[in-house]
Amino acid sequence: MCGIVGYTGTEAAKDILIDGLKRLEYRGYDSAGVALERAEAASASGCALDIHRRVGKVAGLESELACLDTASTCGIGHTRWATHGRPSVPNAHPHTSCDGRIAIVHNGIIENFAELREELERRGHRFASDTDTEVFAHLIEEAYEGRPADPATGEQAAPGCHDLLAAVREACAHVVGAYGLAAVCADEPGVIAVARKDSPIIIGRGEHGSYVASDVIAVIDATRDVVVLEDGQFARLAPEGITYTDADGAAIEPAVTHIDWDIDMAEKGGYPDFMLKEILEQPRVVRDTLVGRMGPAGELDIDELGLSLEELNLIDRVYVIACGTSYHAGLIAKNLIEGWARIPCEVEAASEFRYRNPIITPSTLVVAVSQSGETADTLAAIRDARIKGAKVFGITNVVGSPVARESDGVIYTKANKEIAVASTKSFIGQVVSLTLLALLLAQVKYRLTVGQVRMLFRELGDTAEQIQWILDTQTDAIHAAAEACCDAHSALFVGRGMGAAIANEGALKLKEISYLHAEAYAAGEMKHGPIALIDPGFPVIAVATKSPVYDKTVSNLKECEARGAKIIVVATEGDEDIREIADHVIYIPAVRDAFSAITATVPLQLLAREVALMRGCDVDQPRNLAKSVTVE
Ligand code: AGP
Repeated sequence: MCGIVGYTGTEAAKDILIDGLKRLEYRGYDSAGVALERAEAASASGCALDIHRRVGKVAGLESELACLDTASTCGIGHTRWATHGRPSVPNAHPHTSCDGRIAIVHNGIIENFAELREELERRGHRFASDTDTEVFAHLIEEAYEGRPADPATGEQAAPGCHDLLAAVREACAHVVGAYGLAAVCADEPGVIAVARKDSPIIIGRGEHGSYVASDVIAVIDATRDVVVLEDGQFARLAPEGITYTDADGAAIEPAVTHIDWDIDMAEKGGYPDFMLKEILEQPRVVRDTLVGRMGPAGELDIDELGLSLEELNLIDRVYVIACGTSYHAGLIAKNLIEGWARIPCEVEAASEFRYRNPIITPSTLVVAVSQSGETADTLAAIRDARIKGAKVFGITNVVGSPVARESDGVIYTKANKEIAVASTKSFIGQVVSLTLLALLLAQVKYRLTVGQVRMLFRELGDTAEQIQWILDTQTDAIHAAAEACCDAHSALFVGRGMGAAIANEGALKLKEISYLHAEAYAAGEMKHGPIALIDPGFPVIAVATKSPVYDKTVSNLKECEARGAKIIVVATEGDEDIREIADHVIYIPAVRDAFSAITATVPLQLLAREVALMRGCDVDQPRNLAKSVTVE
């Protein structure tokens, strides 16, 4: 996703920025840009800013800058992953004030940008992009230069502060949302002002100057002693040093952290593998996927859908088409779409769908789910469905990917780039996005009231903290469960209802990274065949959270226990009774059944990873698998 780098010092800023941006490429992005102070234009009253932006890879920007003969020693750079506004040069960062004398780069989302933009336009500001970010440039400009009176609100004109850091602080006071921000101003050569709220920013001092970045990887060659800025803290970087303030402008002295990771570890955020890093990011994925989705009147806002509410109201059949983990997200969605919206929903492997003759009418909605957005089977199924007259809606993690381009509408999951071959955080992003879609369908079909949708939306948001609780408290229990099954030849994952859908994802995770054979079964089906597999010590991993089918699931587990199975249960916190049949219990917080997939899948991801590590497997790059499956 988006990345920030900035430098001020004595060396060539151009090279340092490009190098930092390349280091941030792994996050995924669609455009890149830099703002460089034009040293040649420097005088006592300031300098000028050169802005260079390109859609596509940093290498393209690098070639453009290669022709630029500059002695600039101060600048900011950015890689953008589109959220508001398509990938394009005008939407790429840096964004500038009306007079081009202030430039900013920003990570995060400004929730009140529409109101702010309206106010700023009323006061005469001209916008050059569709982004939420640009409001920051104009807000800083007003704080710096002065604000005209606003006849619409009766607000008086205000004088400018002519201090970049103070202007950034003032601008932040108007913004609701998340930001990691770096700004430069032609009137203050060599100065970079920095702010942070809910979006990471690190700052460091090296031999040749001062650095800012959204990820330590971008500056690790220059400095290993960094300040991890906290929410509400601000910094002023200059060639001679760095000062920090709080939101009131009072000086502070944040602690310095020494980074002792190597480059490989730094790319992984200090974690031993990408899979763990990505699992730990899941609370953020839930939060980011929900940002801006609830309108002021309690109505859901998914305007990327490409369908009017009237068209949505006519939908009478839904197909979810996908492969692998994305297919499992579809299994969860079926329960929600049928349960809440009362629309028949079928989930099909895209590789099967494309060779069938499914019943499709103009009122059929096909939802194509794909992390990579380029899975060949899913793409072929999309094309087939459109030829047959269906509306196709894509859910993908990759901006501008073929799935996004070829669908009538798209929701981007806010997972950021996923590197481990085994999907974890993108699954959570998919389930949250599909849950929003199910709520929207229920809303337009008047199956749920606005009040019910609002309550469910709030509970959906609560899953972020619930995942965090699992990550914080259940690692020992997961480790013990992994030890209990790492030497097995095979394992069964079982559950009922939502639990059965979750079991499928648990089994896929385990088999793909640990090479331990695993199957998922609806627990009630065990007695129709699979129970024959069970002999003493055979691992049965169950999802048995408190749900309407809890007692039924427990009965099925007793049948396994009676045959000597080793039973590992994902259960609801506080369920002590389950210990009577379980050898190992991993708890998740109590959660509405509809949202249990978002939480109960997390311990199964961690379990698979632990087992794989115990078996000496490479959890990020399992054998025979590719991250994008672009062949049939
Ligand atoms: C998941 O862990 C897998 N590696 C795989 O099943 C994956 O989900 C599948 O290939 C679909 O990929 P997509 O979501 O990119 O379309």
